[in-house]
Amino acid sequence: MAQASQTAVRLADHVDRLGLEHPPIDLATVDYSVRRPDELNRRYGHVLDYMARVELEVDRNVLELTTLLPDPPEIDRRFYAEVWQPQETRHGLILDELQVRLGRPPAAADLTSIGLKLKILGALSHLPAFQDVCRMLYYLTGMSTERSAVVAYNLLHDGVAELGEDAIAQTVVAPIRRQEPGHYAFYQLSARGLWSELGGWQRWMVRRMRSISFGPVGANDAQQKADFGEMLASLGIDAEAEQFAAQISRVERELLWAHRHGMRFPPYVVKAFREAVELAQHRRAA
Ligand SMILES: [Fe+2]
Ligand SMILES: [Fe+2]
Repeated sequence: MAQASQTAVRLADHVDRLGLEHPPIDLATVDYSVRRPDELNRRYGHVLDYMARVELEVDRNVLELTTLLPDPPEIDRRFYAEVWQPQETRHGLILDELQVRLGRPPAAADLTSIGLKLKILGALSHLPAFQDVCRMLYYLTGMSTERSAVVAYNLLHDGVAELGEDAIAQTVVAPIRRQEPGHYAFYQLSARGLWSELGGWQRWMVRRMRSISFGPVGANDAQQKADFGEMLASLGIDAEAEQFAAQISRVERELLWAHRHGMRFPPYVVKAFREAVELAQHRRAA
């Protein structure tokens, strides 16, 4: 109990601080000047499109969340409604504006459709013990998603700066990148706190459900998985699936798989990344 209330205090402080220190990016601070639009588009247009879509789809993610967790802790609601959604939506709008200025179509974000599986989980979630399983899955997804974003924006930032597109690196990518670690920290704190409270069958179920449901951020069908693989190629890490998997699932491995000594990353994570890379290769060859 002592640990639970400590986690609650830390989470409340963290969300307060994020709200104060990281308001949504002011659009007036963004400088869209591009020196070589064609080159930027050729190198990173696809990455901009993928990330813009994922960021804009937070509106759907919030719908999914309210379906999955009918009765969330107040701190979760405050985080996603007051901090996370406003920040991410702005990230999406800025990236999308940039890609349109490069001559690309706007991102095709799906803002409304919720899958049947999620609705079933949501119905079961009315049982408090099962809601905790769903909450744990939500925190795990949050961690891997936000870590993926940090890695992607780091690579994108350096790549764009290397092309000499300083305005884009400094006023688009850098401010977005700065806001992602705070999201990751929220999920990490939450995941550690909740994991310590789960009983044996709940932990078993989390491992099982995570193993069968893990997917790369924003990849909900074969097309989007190939897009994700393509993004890894654009960022130059398509041959480094294992390192990427290890990076984004460090805490997940530590919590869920502590008993599997010597595991470097959960096998389902690397499998999903490899699949995405292969789908992208097949599509390119076809
Ligand atoms: Fe974001
Ligand atoms: Fe984020």
